[in-house]
Amino acid sequence: MKLWGGRFAAGPSEVFERFSGSLDFDRRLLEADIRGSQAFARALERAGILTSEECGRIVEAFNEIRAESADTSFFEGATDEDVHTLVIRKLKERAGAVADKIHTGRSRNEQVSLDTRLWLREECKRIRTLLAGAMEGLLRLAEAYPSAVIPGYTHLRRAQAVLWPHYLLAYFEMFARDRQRFGEAHDHANLLPLGSGALAGSGFALDREAMARDLGFAGITANSMDVSGDRDFALDFLYAASVTMIHLSRLAEDWILYSSEEFGWMELGDGVTSGSSLMPQKKNPDSLELIRGKSGRVLGSLTSLMVTMKGLPMTYNRDMQEDKVPLFEAADEVSASLEMIRVVIDSVKLNPARPLAAAEESWVVATDLAEALARAGTPFHQAHQIVGRFVLESVTRGKKPADWSAAEMQQFDARFTGDLAALLDPREGMRSREIPGGTGPETVRSALAAARRRLEQMQ
Ligand code: ARG
Repeated sequence: MKLWGGRFAAGPSEVFERFSGSLDFDRRLLEADIRGSQAFARALERAGILTSEECGRIVEAFNEIRAESADTSFFEGATDEDVHTLVIRKLKERAGAVADKIHTGRSRNEQVSLDTRLWLREECKRIRTLLAGAMEGLLRLAEAYPSAVIPGYTHLRRAQAVLWPHYLLAYFEMFARDRQRFGEAHDHANLLPLGSGALAGSGFALDREAMARDLGFAGITANSMDVSGDRDFALDFLYAASVTMIHLSRLAEDWILYSSEEFGWMELGDGVTSGSSLMPQKKNPDSLELIRGKSGRVLGSLTSLMVTMKGLPMTYNRDMQEDKVPLFEAADEVSASLEMIRVVIDSVKLNPARPLAAAEESWVVATDLAEALARAGTPFHQAHQIVGRFVLESVTRGKKPADWSAAEMQQFDARFTGDLAALLDPREGMRSREIPGGTGPETVRSALAAARRRLEQMQ
């Protein structure tokens, strides 16, 4: 069925029909389309276009169509141009002539915006729940090893010692911001576009506010031309999805490294790793590699829609139909990756001795020493020079921090007073970082407790 045709002497070519049809993918908007059309029928009744009996019949027919759609045969043989057309055809089949009134003063341009907004609202909520799940996993993993020490890295070189929970709480913050971004994406989608018509506003006196209330929208859009050409709400969602995937990809990258033989910090569960068809010894971190890999696709979906939109003249252009595949793909991939990361997180066993040894064998304490000198009165730049020379001397002589005695240190430089030798232990220097947001043990303990409380409020 077509929702147009009167103006054409000949029908579309078979190739064009195949090329332009979107039912294969926009069928995912079926539930949203039905819900939106039911609300639209009620609006038409309020505007006096439908009698209450007609409206009742239409709403009921839509309920039946919704129920019928659970059946796998629902889409069988459907050749409709898109989901909106299919829904109207099904309505005609059930409700007869009255169905011809459902599209009064409505355009598919606003309908597709409505459906996408309704669908996105639900996706945002679902993804926010999945993010909270990953955050819960991080907290559990932090609480399992509250005092484990790891070397923190910059430039992938050992930099300063931090607590394991401090490291995990960094990802907790990233996911917290992601949740917020999906909340904002939800809010941007949460305005009713119906009443905008094709681009100029509907020619019927529809009560837009009542429709917004009916569909649970926070308000109505302000400009009909904007509505017709707007996919910002989809871009906002894709941006939120992309940033989430960047975070997941970076976590994946960390743990691929940390679980390698070279690091040996952690063991990933058997359930989230794969073997090799050739090399019997292998235990590969495929779950994490796939998360990292899928992030490329999600970032691609954002780029794809941005490029689709950038050259479009006002207002609706059929190019915009190309928003759906990237949108659906991004939603699926971000959900699947969040579900996967939760299982990976739950499977992790830390081997705290290894990261501690990595910290102890390196010079992550150098900053602690320099800062201690500065606290004792040496200008920081000089302190930096002294410790730099101390590290050079150690490296040259093949000495680790623990190989130095207090007396030897003082011999090296008189400003290395006895108490400074304690700072050769990476666990010591951390105590000076009891600053909000720092890795001081007390600070981290309360940050962990605060994160717990925040998470409880989220659920
Ligand atoms: N399937 C179309 C889309 O996704 C619906 C809007 C069609 N509008 C039009 N003027 N052809 O964008």
